Amino acid sequence: MTLRISVIGTGYLGATHAAAMAEFGFEVLGLDIDPEKIATLTAGQVPMYEPGLSELLLKHVAGHEGSTGRLRFTTSAQEAAEFGDVHFVCVNTPQRKGEFAADMSYVDAAIDSLAPHLTRPVLVVGKSTVPVGSAGRLAERLAALAPVGEGAELAWNPEFLREGFAVQDTLRPDRIVIGARGGRAEELLREVYAEPIAAGVPFLVTDYATAELVKTAANSFLATKISFINAMAEVCEAAGADVTQLSAALALDDRIGGKFLNSGLGFGGGCLPKDIRAFMARAGELGADQALTFLREVDSINMRRRSRMVELAREQCAGGFLGRRIAVLGAAFKPNSDDIRDSPALNVAAQIQLQGAQVTVYDPKAMDNARKMFPGLAYADSALEAAEGAHVVLHLTEWQEFRALDPAELGAVVAERRLLDGRNVLDADAWRAAGWTYRALGRPS
Ligand code: UGA
Repeated sequence: MTLRISVIGTGYLGATHAAAMAEFGFEVLGLDIDPEKIATLTAGQVPMYEPGLSELLLKHVAGHEGSTGRLRFTTSAQEAAEFGDVHFVCVNTPQRKGEFAADMSYVDAAIDSLAPHLTRPVLVVGKSTVPVGSAGRLAERLAALAPVGEGAELAWNPEFLREGFAVQDTLRPDRIVIGARGGRAEELLREVYAEPIAAGVPFLVTDYATAELVKTAANSFLATKISFINAMAEVCEAAGADVTQLSAALALDDRIGGKFLNSGLGFGGGCLPKDIRAFMARAGELGADQALTFLREVDSINMRRRSRMVELAREQCAGGFLGRRIAVLGAAFKPNSDDIRDSPALNVAAQIQLQGAQVTVYDPKAMDNARKMFPGLAYADSALEAAEGAHVVLHLTEWQEFRALDPAELGAVVAERRLLDGRNVLDADAWRAAGWTYRALGRPS
């Protein structure tokens, strides 16, 4: 009989995972405590912008014309517990307020709501990013709370999807990592992931702690790579060198590679910043804090990019920000997403506004989210409208739409042709040829 799958938590990760499981041919039930989110998903709509996800949902959500009907949603933990043979836990683990450590309360609550209804042998699979050691603790908690006892097994299967590419990363990940303690976990998860495995995706089985660490180590490495090139940008600025040429040359060394070597305003989002902090906090608890002190530096380099961008903008406004108009292009933490969690672009926009400038923001997808979080900023319906009367234009999230902007057209509406490229992707020569002062982090003026 085909496995039945429940997915607990239907945010970026869970909604995509649930749709992908239906695409693999399983019957899927998504569970969330937020009735509004469940109503939206049941209507076949996606509560966030994620390319390809709404198409995949509509293909499978029950009650839609032509759908497979394999995907349903509920707010009842009991229904999900009774339904699933395999339960995926996809809730988030944000940074705790006032500390570096991860907030595990949603993961704990997911296990606590599910376990009392588990009366037959099942596999619970954690996908959330958690501090190393969590899976061991949760396995015991699960067995203690479930009527079926040890029959409720736990596995850890970290998720590596990137926002903006969530669907393709879930259907065809780079690798599938399973942390398990024997039992049926490997057999069941080979069945769940039969399709990507058949397509050649590597399937690795480890202990719990290693699986948990693969995730935090991967995000730490990516963050380190970005901060490395941004540290080089600081040196380039001091030495009069060009960081984009430097990174292009470094990228040609196969051992270094060019991915995640784009210098600019640095990393943000709901993952990298909080994951490296939670990792430091956990290493401290384990007595291994020295091993990760470099991540503090990675974090500082990253945060310094934001202050440097504000400084550069101030330099462009001779006499300070008071009374000046600043256009900010981009609000999402990266392109192809409407996620504004720890967005470098909005952080810079808000700092400049607080220092007395009138800041107008435009983003192709993240306007609603930005408005809610920063109601004090002004918002425009297009890049051109945002730039009207601006003394400086800041390009802070590298949407394709911004690369296609016509420097002459934008030049006709601004008060002064001053552009700061926070992502080092605009064509400096083209902007300069149209009479703009073009400046970027880590590049000569
Ligand atoms: C990241 C990881 O890439 C995923 O593998 C992981 O699954 C996910 O976190 C997670 O933990 O859930 P994501 O947060 O979607 O994914 O975004 P990234 O594509 O990693 O970008 C993160 C930030 O780094 C963005 O602000 C981006 O603008 C910045 N970045 C990226 C750079 O500044 N330079 C680069 O060269 C690349």
